[in-house]
Amino acid sequence: MCGIVGYIGKNRALPILLDGLRRLEYRGYDSSGIVICDDIFHDFRVVGKIKELDKKIANMSLGGNIGIAHTRWATHGAPTENNAHPHCDCTGNIRVVHNGIIENHSALRKQLERKGHIFKSQTDTEVVPHLLEDLYKGNITETLKDVLRIIKGTYGLAVLCAQEPEKILVARKGSPLVIGIGKDETIIASDVSAILQYTKEVIYLEDGEMAEIYADHFKIFDSAANEVDKNIERIEWDIDEATKKGFDHFMLKEIFEQPSTITDSIRGRVVMDEGKVKLGGLEICVDKLRGIKRIIIIACGTAWHAGLIGEYMIEEYAGIPVEVEWASEFRYRKPILDKKTAVLVISQSGETADTLAALREAREKGALTLGIVNTVGSTIARETDAGVYNHIGPEISVASTKAFTSQVSILALLTVLLGRQRGMSLVMGQRILKELQALPEKIENYLSTNNIKDIARKYYHVNNFAFLGRKYNQPTALEGALKLKEISYIHAEGFPSGEMKHGSIAMIEPGFPSFFIAPRDSVYEKNVSNIEEIKSRGGNVIVITTEGNKELEKIADDVIYIPKTLEMLTPILASVPLQLFAYYVSSLKGLDVDKPRNLAKSVTVE
Ligand code: AGP
Repeated sequence: MCGIVGYIGKNRALPILLDGLRRLEYRGYDSSGIVICDDIFHDFRVVGKIKELDKKIANMSLGGNIGIAHTRWATHGAPTENNAHPHCDCTGNIRVVHNGIIENHSALRKQLERKGHIFKSQTDTEVVPHLLEDLYKGNITETLKDVLRIIKGTYGLAVLCAQEPEKILVARKGSPLVIGIGKDETIIASDVSAILQYTKEVIYLEDGEMAEIYADHFKIFDSAANEVDKNIERIEWDIDEATKKGFDHFMLKEIFEQPSTITDSIRGRVVMDEGKVKLGGLEICVDKLRGIKRIIIIACGTAWHAGLIGEYMIEEYAGIPVEVEWASEFRYRKPILDKKTAVLVISQSGETADTLAALREAREKGALTLGIVNTVGSTIARETDAGVYNHIGPEISVASTKAFTSQVSILALLTVLLGRQRGMSLVMGQRILKELQALPEKIENYLSTNNIKDIARKYYHVNNFAFLGRKYNQPTALEGALKLKEISYIHAEGFPSGEMKHGSIAMIEPGFPSFFIAPRDSVYEKNVSNIEEIKSRGGNVIVITTEGNKELEKIADDVIYIPKTLEMLTPILASVPLQLFAYYVSSLKGLDVDKPRNLAKSVTVE
């Protein structure tokens, strides 16, 4: 989704801003822009990729030690040069870049137009520079405070003012902003990946805060406009983790990282002798968890699929009723929550707007809130009562892979923690944990020997796909379908195998492909009957099953073998071939695997 970078300091701003924009590309965008200030403002805006912006600026030897830049993911107004940020006021003295949505922009625009302001874009953002112009009386910081009282909605904002060129102003509400503190230079960004190259010392702005940023110092103000002190935090991961390391795409690199990311997610958290789990981030509420009678898991997309697998695990092994909710629905329902309900939010980015809103709703209603979050210091991580970090480094590809298998692994740990509090035996605890620890090696072997590329070659030209599974692998089927459609643009639907005959089987005709996830588990025979139903109608079947189970070779068109493991952990193994399949189909179609059209890595608007 939209990205912001800003620089003020001893060096030329332009290359640093361009580099920052490139590092934010993974978030998804359709246009971009930069403004550099030397004696005057120099603006550049383009539709399309950052390389277009590069081309436009390449031959210019622009000085200027201050500037702001933006990647835009269109919400209000099409992706055009005029709608790209930075936006300016009528006098040309103010520049603004913005992430989020100004909800009362229509009314504000009308008022400003009546006063004679001329708008040049269709964006909601453009009201901000015009408001600043309208209210400016010689102090841009005070003016921004006034503007923040007027605008409604969400924002990460960066502002430049020609009359006060020694500072950048930033403000945050519902859209992340990080201040990177270097030596005689300060970099601001919506995402730490644009900052890490220059410094690991950062300050996360909280909702309602704004800041004056200078090259060698900064001032932060709370929502009541009082100056506040903030802790400087240190980022633990390295810029190297955000490079492709020789892989063609981030997605492939991230798929291949899974043996180590699962290891990292469970490292130091297993107490094998006692068949128990130690999750540092949950220590403060471990006793409270004993009394929990119900869990609601809230997430979006892939994280929601992980949550569904968690539901099966926790209900089966810990005996706690679990409901899984889409965050975008939960926030508009009237959920019934009480002190015996724990709400668990799952989010890779920790910034997903719907998940965050649902979390805040749950907190307001008094539920204990827990998180499984990858991005350290993200808003969701900070706003939950307690939580578990994935520890898998940055996930850059829009299509989530290593975050999914890590989320499911942590849900398995949580299942043991909750189960052991409620009568799960030592032996069962140890069994789950041993199988979990064995997964990385199994995935490693699988990645070096699989036949997925050949299967992708057979199917990459099709227009439709069904993904089917039962019990633990019903969510895996949903995830397989989502992976395929988001990066290959092939229509794919995932559903429980048993639901097929209630409607979807009408779609099956000769050649229609279905992907079955049918390991040798408690519902294997049921899945086989469903496979037969599809085959008898001429459909093609690709099946994922357990190593050694040769019988499906007689029925299915293609068989993919995954190693044997506990039934509850099969989704982790089965999702790897599904990820590879989607990856190879997308690359065979020549698509932009890491940055699929219309999508953003972190969905920070509703
Ligand atoms: C998955 O491939 C998607 N990119 C998407 O569904 C994602 O999982 C969803 O937007 C939730 O994101 P989050 O984990 O950062 O909250």
